[in-house]
This record gives sequence, structure tokens and C-alpha cells, in this order.
Amino acid sequence: MKKLSVLLAAVTLLGCAGANKETDVKRLGFEAEARLLLARLTLVEMVGEMKQITLEHFGMSGPDGRFVLDEAKLRDGIVQHHLGSILNCGGQARTVQNWQEIITKMQEIATKETRLGIPIIYGIDTIHGANYVLGATLFPHNIAMAATGDVALMERTGEIAALETRAAGIPWNFGPVLDLARQPMWPRVFETFGEDPYLASVMGAAYIQGQQGKDLSSPVKVATCMKHYLGYCWPYSGQDRTPAYIPERQLRQWFLPPYRAAVQAGTVTCMANSSEINGVPVHASKYYLTDLLRGELGFRGLVVSDWADIENLYKREMVAKDRREAVKMAVLAGVDMSMVPEDYSFYDTLLQLVQDGEVPMKRIDEAVGNVLRVKYALGLFKDPYPRKDRAASVGAPSSRQVNLRAAQEAMTLLKNENHVLPLAKGRKVLVTGPCANKLSVLNSGWSTTWQGDQEQLYPPEKNTILEAIQEKLGQENVACVEAVTFDKEIDIAQAVTAAAGADVIVACIGEPAYCETPGNITDLAMTEPQLRLVRELAGTGKPIVLVLVQGRPRVIRPIVDLAQAILMAYVPGLEGGQAVADVLVGDVNPSGKLPLTYPKYSGVVWWYDHKASEEKGGNKFDPQWEFGHGLSYTTFTYRALRADASEMTLKDTLPITVEVTNEGDRPGQEIVQLYLSDVVASVTPPVKVLKRFQKIELKPKEMKVVRFDLTWDDLAFIGLDHKPIVEPGEFKAQIGQMSVGFTARDDRR
Ligand code: GLC
Repeated sequence: MKKLSVLLAAVTLLGCAGANKETDVKRLGFEAEARLLLARLTLVEMVGEMKQITLEHFGMSGPDGRFVLDEAKLRDGIVQHHLGSILNCGGQARTVQNWQEIITKMQEIATKETRLGIPIIYGIDTIHGANYVLGATLFPHNIAMAATGDVALMERTGEIAALETRAAGIPWNFGPVLDLARQPMWPRVFETFGEDPYLASVMGAAYIQGQQGKDLSSPVKVATCMKHYLGYCWPYSGQDRTPAYIPERQLRQWFLPPYRAAVQAGTVTCMANSSEINGVPVHASKYYLTDLLRGELGFRGLVVSDWADIENLYKREMVAKDRREAVKMAVLAGVDMSMVPEDYSFYDTLLQLVQDGEVPMKRIDEAVGNVLRVKYALGLFKDPYPRKDRAASVGAPSSRQVNLRAAQEAMTLLKNENHVLPLAKGRKVLVTGPCANKLSVLNSGWSTTWQGDQEQLYPPEKNTILEAIQEKLGQENVACVEAVTFDKEIDIAQAVTAAAGADVIVACIGEPAYCETPGNITDLAMTEPQLRLVRELAGTGKPIVLVLVQGRPRVIRPIVDLAQAILMAYVPGLEGGQAVADVLVGDVNPSGKLPLTYPKYSGVVWWYDHKASEEKGGNKFDPQWEFGHGLSYTTFTYRALRADASEMTLKDTLPITVEVTNEGDRPGQEIVQLYLSDVVASVTPPVKVLKRFQKIELKPKEMKVVRFDLTWDDLAFIGLDHKPIVEPGEFKAQIGQMSVGFTARDDRR
């Protein structure tokens, strides 16, 4: 039936929502306080609030790993240059005591030695826990948290990361990352919540809620920063910070929804995408940073540049002839604060631009107003100092328990033939591979150091995969031969020999630690030494269990059939080794589901929400494993999928129910996923789109009825005019292998 197009009257989470501007502004507030203070600031003080300098500029690490401030440099920055913000860790994580000293000194100078005593706002990357606070809880990275499908757990990890960050005296976290994993080569896939906008929206909003709570001035909450707005994650080449070519419709269908959800969740700051979209650097785009972000999404917070990305406008993107033009472009586009971050060049240049009338005071007022409102919301004017009594909250045992549960729930069992898993106690096991006995691979980037590759800086008491398996099965039953590094063979023959004495082989392969551009690869295939190790071990005839420790889905097609079981561990954090062992021996029943489409080939990129043409007319949708895939040690069956009605109209909700039964003899968790298909649409419809998910726990033989209420908004997609529309007609709701149809009818005609 030809569908009539109706403009969507309501809003939906999936990229078609108009943020509630009032709520967002109310949530940040402090308009009056900021206005009063603004009126008292001189131009140099205002421009000072718009720049952010990195900690490295104000001191250095001492021999004991403590950061030692150069007070003269610090005073020069804060008093002479009116510096409003400082960031980063100075090269490595610090103790909470050291952080408290650093922040206290900064705030003392800022509040007691400057004319108006405006406090500093300190920003840091708390990407998977307070990763720059020694002893903090390092959670699974976002890609693994997405695999848990556990929204409450996501919020809880956000709460803990916030309290441990604020304990250090740091009130601003450059997170969450709301990019999508749609280019599997991209080195920051592990920082994302996967390929789906809805999953990223829900997890991102939960994280923001956990981090910010209801009162940003609380000593256990921090300001969040949705990043990297937007489209940074889809570089055509797969190389970090290279051009993305994103049609507007696609931008609004995929990449915008998580940011809209974050604004609705109340995030108070935003970091711009380092790179460009269709030839337009986001840092220079008024359309992206003002019209879309503030005009359409209703964002009222502070926009900060990414690292040196205003400078990059004339050094890398080449859209500005010099610094003066770059600063003018970025500030007029909507950047409120420049993460310069090495010197005062931005300050001097912007001062000159304002004095020359090339940047209007109105823009400066806006930018500084946004900075001040965030500082007021954080309570920094009332009390900018760290709370000594909060230091003890870092790395609490209760937080470790949450971290272990998160890592356990992230584990995604991709294959398990002949029930080779769980491993029976008493079996002889050979553990091998470059990920078997390291903590750095379990944590990767943003872990104690930027690259996360300093093995010696990780807490020695934490278990690697090998150590955890040895604890479970007994050292005498577990041998280990690393056999290869990521890019070199060491001694595969030794592993083959050792396999003779084993009943089963656990091959831990994947990726080393990396962060951002240093993590670029030119081939998505798993590295050859690791593939060869598995091939040689397969020749022994012993069953092989693959454990994949990786930030992105490396292609393992050549060895998939050689392994009887495959466990995706992602980058599971400090408790990841323990969690892998817990699952391998069956102390934990795996429940994770892939938050991305796992590629079978390096040369083709498929997503779960692909188009019919990709699986018709001779084309084949043929990933290694589909988005949403994940096995359990028990069996869940789905029955009686029902839609409460055969049609729905604008004002209706349509309950969809399904019975889920645990047929096995052990309890288990299952992430029930509801997908929707728009059968015919004016834009080629995806074969399915994730609309809801719910994680349930079932005892043996227990059945639960799971209900999802679809609304008219869920039927929306971004139409040819780049606006959200719902086109009445046939739809299909799918859960598991079942589907039920219904009709959307426009009852206003
Ligand atoms: C980096 C990253 C960004 C981070 C910032 C500060 O280049 O792109 O995610 O928040 O710089 O460390």
C-alpha cells in the first residue's frame, strides 16, 4: 500500500527527538549568576576562561611518580594569563593524594591570588573508570559494557567512575564517547558502545545519569562531556582523524541520535570531532556546532575543542591560512573553550581578534557564560577543593565487585561446539598466545598512561587470564607457552610440544594496548603469527578454545573452524582476567551479546541494519557473527510472540510480548532484543532496526513474559527531506527467530 508521509508530530529517542530545551537549560541553570559575574570580568579575564592548558605545562613527574608542580609557571598561567581550565595527567596516573595536592594548589592560586577568584575547572579522561587515578576501578571499556546489555550496571559504573574522579578533586570527565563502531578498522572502536544508535543512546544516557546524578556540586558527581561530536567514528580510510563522507540523512539516522539522547540526559559539555565531515572540519562549522547542536538539539552547555584542533585548522585541515584565521573560525563556529593545549597562543590571538572587532563581544559573552555556568553547576565557586575524606573511596572492594560483575556480563560466547566449555576441573590446560599473561591487553588505551601499554604500571595483584585460570584449575594443571607476540613468532613449536600434555588449549589472541591514532591498522585480519599459532596447534588434535582480547573485531575466518569454542572478551578491564576464567570454568554463565557485526572478511563492512539489496540478487549478508549474537551455557527458547493489536495509530502504544524460557539446568541471563522492520518506505528501509532490549535472569525451567511497548515514534526514520517521518503501512516486530506484523494507520485523515 502506498504510504502517505506524515510529519512526525511527537519525538523519539532515535534521532528524531527535539530536545526539551527548557529542561536542558533548567538542568544547567545559573544563568543569573553567570550574567552577574560576566558583567564584572575584563576582556583578558573572559578570554582566559576560554582556554585550557595541559598539566605537562605546569610541572613534571618526580622520581617517585608524583607530579611536581612548577608553582611559578602555574601562577603565571592562572594569575598573569587568567587561565580558566587545565587538563590531563602529565603523562601517567597519579595517586589520589597527589591529585588532591595538585588541585588544591591550583584552586588556592585561582581563588586567592586573582582579582575575582574564579576557580579552575579541571578536565580529565575518565574513559573506563578514573583511569588516571592510581588504584581506581578500571572497568571494561564501553564496547564491552555495551555487550552486557545491562543499563543499570552501566549507570552504576558511571557512578563509581564519577566518585573516584571527584575524589581526586577533578570535576569534569571527557566522556562518554558516543561515536558508533561502523568502521571496524577505526582504532577507537573499543571506546564506543558499538554500531547501533539506540544501544549507544541508552548506554550513554545511563552513564551520564550515573556520572552527573541530580546535583553536579555533589562530591561524588562530575560533569560529563559527550564526544566526539559528531561523525568522527566513520573515517572512510579507517585511519583515525581522516575524512568522513556522511550524507546528511545518514548523519541524522545514525550519528546524531546518541548526542540527542545525551542532551536529553542533561550532559553539560560537548567535545568537538577532531576531524571533518564532507570537507568541513567540525571545529570550523557553525552548522554543526551552533545550528544543529544548540539550535536543533537544544544543547546549552560548554563546547570544548579536542586536542590542538583549532591549531589543526591551519596545520592539518588547511581551511585556515594561519592561527588568527583558525581561532576566528572556531570561536565563531561555536567553540567555547580551546584545548590549546600547550601554550597561550589562543589567548593572545583571540584577544587581538576581539580588539580588532573580528570576533564580537556577544560571542565571547556566550562562550564565557557557558564556561561559568558549568563551574557554578559544579559548585566550584562554593568549594573548589578536593575533599580529603573522599580519598578512601578510590578502589573500594565494593567497586571491585561491580567491576568484576561488569566484566563477567560482558563476556560473549560466540561458539561452543561439543560443550567443550565450560572446562571441567582437573583437566590439563595449555594457555598460549600474546594476551594470556598481560594486564595491558585487558585494559588497553586510557589506562594509567594514554596508550595503556606500560605493563609495569598495572597493579600486580590483579590476575591476568593465565593467573586466573591457574587459580581456578591449579598451577599443576595449567601450562603456559606464549609462543608468539602480536607481530612475531617466538616459539610455536614449543607450544605444539606442550599441547601433547594438555587436554585442551586456551589460545588468548587479539590486540596489544593502543589509543587513538597510534592504534591505526591497515588490515583488519588478525595478525599472521597469531593465526599460524592456532593453525599449528590445531594440528595436535587437541580441542582449542579461542579467547579474543581486542578493541575491535579482527578477522579470524581462517581459524574459526579450528576452534571448538570462541569467547569474545573485548577489552574487559582490570577484572577481565578473572572474568574470562570464571566463564571458561563455568563459574559464570556468559550472557554478553555482540554490540557490533563481527566481520568475516577484511574487505567488506556489513552492519546488522543493512539493506535488503545486500542480501538479494546474488548478494549475501555473510558476517562471521551477527550483531546481538551471544551464546549461553543454558538454552533459552522464545515462544508466543504477540502484538496486542494488528494496527496502531499516532496516539497508541502497541504492547509486544514474548515468552522466554530457560530450558536448561542452570540459571542464566538473556538480553531480549526487539527489532522493527518497516516493510516498504520512501527511503530504502533497513532489514531491521533495534528498538528495545531488556536483560532478564531466569532460573532453570523458569519462563518469563517480556513486554515492550512500541510507540508511534518508534516507527520513525529520517526521510528524504532529512526530517523524521512515520509512513503508515506494514511493519514487522521481530524477537529471536519470530516476527509479528502490524499496520500503522494515520487516523487523522
Ligand atoms: C584526545 C582525544 C579526546 C580526549 C582529549 C583529551 O586527543 O581525542 O578523546 O578527551 O584528547 O585527552
